[in-house]
Amino acid sequence: MATLSQFDVLALRREFPILQQEVHGKPLAFLDSAASSQKPRQVIDCLEDYYRRFNANVHRGVYKLSEEATFAYERARGKVARFLGAASPREIVFTRNATEAINLVAYSWGGANLGPGDRILLTIMEHHSNIVPWQMLAQRSGAQLDYLSIDSQGRLALEELDTKLSERTKLVAVAHQSNVLGTINPIAELAQRAHAVGALLLVDAAQSVPHLPVDVQALGCDFLAFSGHKACGRPGSVGCGHAAHCSKRCRLFSAAAR
Ligand SMILES: Cc1ncc(COP(=O)(O)O)c(C=O)c1O
Repeated sequence: MATLSQFDVLALRREFPILQQEVHGKPLAFLDSAASSQKPRQVIDCLEDYYRRFNANVHRGVYKLSEEATFAYERARGKVARFLGAASPREIVFTRNATEAINLVAYSWGGANLGPGDRILLTIMEHHSNIVPWQMLAQRSGAQLDYLSIDSQGRLALEELDTKLSERTKLVAVAHQSNVLGTINPIAELAQRAHAVGALLLVDAAQSVPHLPVDVQALGCDFLAFSGHKACGRPGSVGCGHAAHCSKRCRLFSAAAR
């Protein structure tokens, strides 16, 4: 692994065309990557190549361009699956971003499986993309929300699991890495605790996928959402890396979502 002294910042900057400009007379320093990252020239070149050479409807045409576009689309699904350690490319569902992926789970699996008396366990460190879909599902289904709190260091109060996690809990939805605190939550442990009471675990990996190695099988999660546009990919729905992961436990959702 490269040490800090071997890390060539200038060479890395050269990979990002947008950074080759000055703002207010100074080289551009972009500090909002957690919201959306800049794109390296490899991504920009790939997109341009796609539009110049084989832009066509995916999975809907029986002519050469459409078959090539479909092949590229499915190859991207395979790459995302390997990137996340998923057991199969069939577990990857492309969406527009993490918010849409979480909403997809709330409207499909959530709508079919939650009812009055059921509980959804969140944490108080969630981004609103991992709160609002569950508030709306609770309104539609009659389920109730619980929240794990945090200690003075910004770590999850795991001791609260003893009282807030019960057999009525159908879903635990938690950020892998907090966008506010930077806290990295113990997902494998949360998965084990959730599964022990029969609940599923959804991971909001919008901040962890761009910053950490993420292996969905090692984490043991049932759903995982991230945004390709925060990890050097493009925004939008075609050929991007926005994905919801769904493990074997929820293959029905995967099938329903395709
Ligand atoms: C932790 C977390 N979850 C979800 C999101 C929403 O991501 P998107 O707007 O790409 O759906 C963000 C965006 O900043 C985030 O930081």
